[in-house]
Amino acid sequence: MNIVYRKQIPYPQPVVLSAYFDLEHIAHVHPSTFGRTRVLKTHGRTVVWELESPAYLGVRFRNVIAQEYMPPYEIRARVTKGLLRGTEVFVRVEPSDGGTCIEETYMLPLPDLPLLGRLVRAWFAKKTDQIWEEDLEVGLPRGGWPGVPES
Ligand SMILES: [Fe+2]
Repeated sequence: MNIVYRKQIPYPQPVVLSAYFDLEHIAHVHPSTFGRTRVLKTHGRTVVWELESPAYLGVRFRNVIAQEYMPPYEIRARVTKGLLRGTEVFVRVEPSDGGTCIEETYMLPLPDLPLLGRLVRAWFAKKTDQIWEEDLEVGLPRGGWPGVPES
């Protein structure tokens, strides 16, 4: 099942791109929407990190994500371990109208059933909007850690 999310962000492209590689800010800005992160290793243009989800009915889920920067505008992430294993995310972060246009495509290992699709898409849109609102409320971080690899 594929889900596409697009949004215009009122920040320059390098700032938006670096937010995707600022894994430290997630725990401070998105603890209840995104969860907690831990960088496991970086090699070349890839950062491997662990995401611990917020608690759902008291349970937290851990996933390991390999996230690769493909200059100049793309990021590809694959979930290699955990409940969401097999999920792939492809992100385009492009300059547009003095800000940045982002397009995130989530490829989920779920069957393409219409009702399931509607539920998952609605949940995703709400969560993703919420996460961007949290970012824009505090202002996008600059720099960040570990940062965009090889830049
Ligand atoms: Fe963020």
